[in-house]
Amino acid sequence: MIHDSDRPRPAAPGGSGPEPHADFDAFEAHGWENAAATYQWFFDPITDRLIDPLLDVTGVSRGTTLLDVACGHGNLSGRAAARGAHPWGVDVAEAMVASARQAHPGIEFSRADACELPCASETFDVAVSNFAILHLGEPERGVAELARVLAPGGKVALTVWDVPARARLFGWVTEALALAGAEPPDDIPPGPPFFRFADDEEMHRLLEGNGFEKTTIHTIAFTHTVASTDLVWTGIVGGTVRTAALVRNQPPSVQRAIRAAFDEVVARESPGSQVVIPFSVKLASATNAKNPTRRTYRFVRVPASLSPRSG
Ligand SMILES: C[S@@+](CC[C@H](N)C(=O)[O-])C[C@H]1O[C@@H](n2cnc3c(N)ncnc32)[C@H](O)[C@@H]1O
Repeated sequence: MIHDSDRPRPAAPGGSGPEPHADFDAFEAHGWENAAATYQWFFDPITDRLIDPLLDVTGVSRGTTLLDVACGHGNLSGRAAARGAHPWGVDVAEAMVASARQAHPGIEFSRADACELPCASETFDVAVSNFAILHLGEPERGVAELARVLAPGGKVALTVWDVPARARLFGWVTEALALAGAEPPDDIPPGPPFFRFADDEEMHRLLEGNGFEKTTIHTIAFTHTVASTDLVWTGIVGGTVRTAALVRNQPPSVQRAIRAAFDEVVARESPGSQVVIPFSVKLASATNAKNPTRRTYRFVRVPASLSPRSG
């Protein structure tokens, strides 16, 4: 049922050309191969803060079958397994999958595209995705794929960064780019707006329009402390894909101006010797609205003569 998949994505239905967001998806997939190592030491301690809230909101416990979409280094799957659940982690980047397998040898991890999961429909009780949908060229397709692989009534939970005014790491970069007068490089393929799903209505539409119901959205705020601005800069430029390209794909003089502006912005907001970064995250959860065919038998009175159990 489950196998590795590094098949290229198919052409758009009815056309011979590539899918509209294929360039963006390829850019992301390639970028994560290079960002994996830095992401682990810089971002894992930040994004791991959302693991228990995601597992709690979906009720993950002993026996739950769980899909961990865009699993990165596999930490969420690891914590789910510690609860007695049965996780399967998938990620498009080989570097992430290799690292997850090494860190959690008892758990199955596969290389797969979130929009084309190599597994049967109605396989999982729960699907969780920590900071992934903002990396998909077609987030609607990714969410519809989660609805397909979830059992009727199954639970989904997703996280995204809040707006830059509240997720300050990204706010600091955005402000530094503006202060340095940096133009968006034209070699970054167009993708969906990074903060689109920080808007609760957009998140609601994404889930309810693609197979889910009973959507709930929580805002979770916390701070994370890093020893120096140098480390923060190294972490964000080495451990991201789209954000990093906004900096790295600039001429050297512009990159220096962005870095100087970043130092200024950070010093203004976090004046001590360490850098205290305010974060805010949107955590959305919902229930699979797939027609629960199995439940029909529970609610409809079946005459004894027709009952599949009779005779
Ligand atoms: C921001 S990281 C999140 C990793 C991990 N879930 C965490 O919380 O730390 C985004 C992850 O999405 C993966 N990714 C990006 N596009 C993907 C796709 N189309 N299918 C599966 N994984 C994808 C990347 O390889 C990367 O591991």
